[in-house]
Amino acid sequence: MCGIIGYVGSRNACEVIVRALERLEYRGYDSAGIAVVNEKLEVSKVVGRVEKLKSRKFEGTIGVGHTRWSTHGKPSIENAHPHVSCDGKIAVVHNGIIENYLELKEELKTHSFKSETDTEVIAHLIEENYSGNLKEAVLKAIKKLVGAYALCVVHESKPDEIIAVRSGSPLALGIGVGENFVASDVSAFIEHTKKTVYLNERELAVVKKNGVELFDSEGKKKQLAIVEVNWDLEQAQKSGFKHFMLKEIFEQPRTVEETSKIKINAELKADKIFITACGTASYAGLVGKYVIERLARVPTEWVLASEFRYSNPIVGRKDLLVVISQSGETADTLAALRLAKEKGARTLAIVNVVDSTIAREADDVVYTRAGLEIGVASTKAFTSQLVALYKIAEKMSGKKMDLSGIPKAIEKILAKDKEITEIARKYFKVYNFLFLGRDVNYPIALEGALKMKEISYIHAEGYAAGEMKHGPIALVTDEVPTVAIAVNDEVKTKIISNIQEIKARNGKIIAIATEGDTEIKKHANEVIYVPKTDALLTPLLTVIPLQLLAYHTAELRECDIDKPRNLAKSVTVE
Ligand code: F6R
Repeated sequence: MCGIIGYVGSRNACEVIVRALERLEYRGYDSAGIAVVNEKLEVSKVVGRVEKLKSRKFEGTIGVGHTRWSTHGKPSIENAHPHVSCDGKIAVVHNGIIENYLELKEELKTHSFKSETDTEVIAHLIEENYSGNLKEAVLKAIKKLVGAYALCVVHESKPDEIIAVRSGSPLALGIGVGENFVASDVSAFIEHTKKTVYLNERELAVVKKNGVELFDSEGKKKQLAIVEVNWDLEQAQKSGFKHFMLKEIFEQPRTVEETSKIKINAELKADKIFITACGTASYAGLVGKYVIERLARVPTEWVLASEFRYSNPIVGRKDLLVVISQSGETADTLAALRLAKEKGARTLAIVNVVDSTIAREADDVVYTRAGLEIGVASTKAFTSQLVALYKIAEKMSGKKMDLSGIPKAIEKILAKDKEITEIARKYFKVYNFLFLGRDVNYPIALEGALKMKEISYIHAEGYAAGEMKHGPIALVTDEVPTVAIAVNDEVKTKIISNIQEIKARNGKIIAIATEGDTEIKKHANEVIYVPKTDALLTPLLTVIPLQLLAYHTAELRECDIDKPRNLAKSVTVE
């Protein structure tokens, strides 16, 4: 969480940094700030969006910036980054959490603290260790830090260098001509350069206008490994769509096709498989559990990463842990991966962001190739994760899944966008939604509910339809619509019974059904049809109307769709 950026070159640093912060806003957006060195260190902070920084005009060609997702201390000017040392000469921006900050604050009693944040101790710690060499001071300071950090540091007396260092939080360098960048991710500088260096754990970079030097945490010089990123600015723009989320929903015919081309080269032999992830990625994993067990008959346990890591899991050498992550940086997923490795299990990561920490640390990696996903609510990454899981199940079982018709089928569903908008118009004022599914579409009910609540702020519950009568049916009234996934599969008659139970209690039904099923109209108030396909593949189709329903509901409620309140795209804290 939080986005950080550093720039050194010949252009106006303030302008470059504010633009970059706008691209990083998906990581956090409750406050923002900038520090520029122009003889003196000048700092400006705002509560709210980066946009507010646009009115600040600083001269100077070196600086750092930050967009915040609060962990320690509420959004306020004092708590916004950059944080500065007592003498006002050192500015620090930070992404991560310093766990021992209270202890350090105690040690730094003589310093005067202005914020409630964990980050501020870093500025004071560097000040304490500074005697003319900023790199040395940072190296000394990080030795004392416990927790996760990606840092950019500037000093008023060093108007030509930024010190960048990371441990546990991501950081990339952008290598330009006569200018260089540091950022939480590549999207911040992609319009200036595609040449990138991904910093490894505990590496430190001295970033100057005409060059970058890399060091390990003991200060020993290292070789720079420059890679060329394979996407461009176009992907970081909305291309005529009102929101990134809508653009990304509409990209799915192409992204699913792209992911279908991947070859699985990973070692998949295992006595037992564990699938773990967070949020939307975890629901893709739950579909994966059904599919792998159905096709390959290998026992597969699905567990949320935040639970796995503290459960003392019985996992060992003969097991395979599959982690799934769009960003490749999610703290709980990364911790689950590290724990399974420690216990001797083989690990396979299904990841979207190339060279992310999870991708680099897993034994094997399958890239989903969905392209840059900017909308905070994950859509195209989810369907690509599903495709990757189908491919894994194919390889494990030797059985073929016919994915060839899926892109066209998704296009057909997307063509119902107007129809789905009209359905959203009927229900957008409700306070509660229920989402029901069974078997492979049970995780889709969970995902539909998650999409609805995170962007429209309507309370939504996803349930296995058979569980309704064990409690949740008490919620049903004529004001609580139920979205029921009732496609042609082995459990369809069961879900029709569940729908009837809801109708009998005056509940309204929005059914997701298979084309040609005219019967369903007798049971449902609204029907959204999806094309016919293999029952195991239906999640790839049934999720699309749920994404659009959530999107249009949120749009009608005038919500901030790409930046829902309290959320961030990349969850790098526990
Ligand atoms: C919801 C959403 C989140 C993420 C979760 C994991 O729309 O995007 O639930 O799926 O935070 O993120 P990644 O996939 O980056 O590990």
